[in-house]
Amino acid sequence: MTSRTHLLPLFLLLPTFASAQPGFVAYKEKTCNERLDIWSDGQLIDGERGDFNGGHGYNNITFPGAQATGDWDKDTGTQFVYWKIEQPDPTCQFMLLKDTPRGWEALSQLPGDEILRVSEEGCYYTAVNPNIDLITSYCCGRDDCAAAEIEVQYSSPKGSSNPKAPSCTIKSYDATPTVEDGVQIAVTRPQTCEAPPTCTHSITQSKMVGTAVSHFQSYSWTTEEGVDIKIDAGVEFIVDSKFSAGINFNIAQSWMDETGTTLTETNITASSEAERQQVGTVAFYAFTPQYDCWKGDASCGKDNSGNEVVLKDVNFCQPRISSTGDSAGVFRMVYISG
Ligand SMILES: *[C@@H]1O[C@H](CO)[C@@H](O)[C@H](O)[C@H]1NC(C)=O
Ligand SMILES: *[C@@H]1O[C@H](CO)[C@@H](O)[C@H](O)[C@H]1NC(C)=O
Repeated sequence: MTSRTHLLPLFLLLPTFASAQPGFVAYKEKTCNERLDIWSDGQLIDGERGDFNGGHGYNNITFPGAQATGDWDKDTGTQFVYWKIEQPDPTCQFMLLKDTPRGWEALSQLPGDEILRVSEEGCYYTAVNPNIDLITSYCCGRDDCAAAEIEVQYSSPKGSSNPKAPSCTIKSYDATPTVEDGVQIAVTRPQTCEAPPTCTHSITQSKMVGTAVSHFQSYSWTTEEGVDIKIDAGVEFIVDSKFSAGINFNIAQSWMDETGTTLTETNITASSEAERQQVGTVAFYAFTPQYDCWKGDASCGKDNSGNEVVLKDVNFCQPRISSTGDSAGVFRMVYISG
């Protein structure tokens, strides 16, 4: 078992955690009667039968006693694991995430994809593969839980739209991009599945995935020409080049010049029928787009004291495109009721 607490600042540093130790306990069947042993790296976790406490990363775990789903679909796990989850504190939600093998920090606040999000106690369904990496987490309160609310379209902080923003050049960056996960996006509404065929999710709304710039720090300065420039920490998607004018657009433009890429907009679509939801559950379907991201420092002219303005660790991300021309990424069912 390896703890990845350093990757989870948002969710782990909450004081409420100390008083509300959430438990995820694994079971064999949907009535949550027979407990399952959990092994991590070939060892029984903590010697406690199947206890899986909240707010931790667990690497390489297996469930030797779990029933086979008989499904070898790419997005569906091969074993059934049910989780008995206790009642969260008011305003709090417990989450089970599948750790991503890719990077994620450039665009997302979550180190993996949600597969469960729980605000009521109960027995919750998942289908997992052996040797999976899972993270248990939680959030409390509206602001904290906002990052986990993937049903709500994410509104990105905007850099100031200023046609007088200076142009920038990119320096000191690694020419090889890293593959990163973007924010997981709900592509269907939550659906109750009583029995097939209502258990199929079809993507009706197309959601766009596009070129993005992100910064971990905020900056503000006055240019030599006396123009006030401000950049917020966060992600900005660079949409519609015709109307874009501002520092993030200029940064994106210089990244495109460096990397030989162009402004990209693509839609999330599923050509085939979406994954089936498990009977007796409530779930929505979500997509996590993948990006190629470059990180480097941007030099954006001089400030009014004549000093060079350098923005450190700027991320520039381009959507990866699948062979069908759609956004590359992973679809997952996210269960919100057992
Ligand atoms: C994962 O666990 C299995 C036992 O289930 C072990 O054989 C394997 O070496 C582990 N993998 C890693 C990367 O530690
Ligand atoms: C994406 O979908 C929107 C709305 O349906 C459409 O206007 C746009 O042309 C699509 N973009 C691409 C690249 O297919």
